[in-house]
Amino acid sequence: MTVGFIGGSGIYESLDIKNSREKRVETPFGDPSAPITIGTVADTEIAFLPRHGRNHEYSPTTVPYRANIHALKQLGVDRILSSNAVGSLREDLPPQTLVIPDQIFDRTCHRQSSFFEDFVVHMSFAQPYCPQLTTHLAGCHEATDTTVVDGGTYVCIEGPQFSTRAESEFYRANDWDVIGMTAIPEAKLAREAELCYATVTGVTDYDVWKQDEQVTLQEVLDNATANERAIKRVIERAIETLPDEHDCECHQALANAINTPSAAIPEETK
Ligand code: ADE
Repeated sequence: MTVGFIGGSGIYESLDIKNSREKRVETPFGDPSAPITIGTVADTEIAFLPRHGRNHEYSPTTVPYRANIHALKQLGVDRILSSNAVGSLREDLPPQTLVIPDQIFDRTCHRQSSFFEDFVVHMSFAQPYCPQLTTHLAGCHEATDTTVVDGGTYVCIEGPQFSTRAESEFYRANDWDVIGMTAIPEAKLAREAELCYATVTGVTDYDVWKQDEQVTLQEVLDNATANERAIKRVIERAIETLPDEHDCECHQALANAINTPSAAIPEETK
């Protein structure tokens, strides 16, 4: 089986992939963000995709999330590791900290978050990340000197603008930990595709609650570049040490879902 890696802002080059080749994959949802790089890391086949495209041409809203997950599934990927740049909602999570979230709060509003169009599929998403893959990723903290925090809630906003102070304070008041723009719908689609999915986030800024001035794009990009090295180390270690067996429920997610033919739903309740 192949391991997928979706790299976030700052990660446009692949990992140290051996015997790499590129593959263009077509999907019913259009083209993925970029051709997929396939090769091996520590004898494990991996498929790498830069989420925002090779030249950062896709905004958080326009990333072709459905095509990306569909393409990886077609290539035989059964587990996806990903990375995201995030802002910090906590004093003790300064820029250049890595956080491996275990929860998401979804504040997006303009994204297609399901593959299913002719059916309504209600699937469990109480645990948005694969618990087993997340634990494995967190266990790879020794691959870097950077602080790696195990667990946290990721607030996913629509963007592309950053938050207002009131919004940022609201998220803090709820004790949430990091804020970004790309966890959703990627995590939802990975679950619908019955793939294990876990992410390592790299803190690039303190969001607006702490900043005297607004978050600047330059600040985000500079810290993202600094986080890149640590993220690659953790991801490479995770791939090298990934056990073959996994007994989580991600691969039976559809079997446990409630499926309703869309046509059977009365028009007024749709
Ligand atoms: N990505 C990086 N920093 C962010 C922030 N402060 N808010 C939302 N997304 C981000």
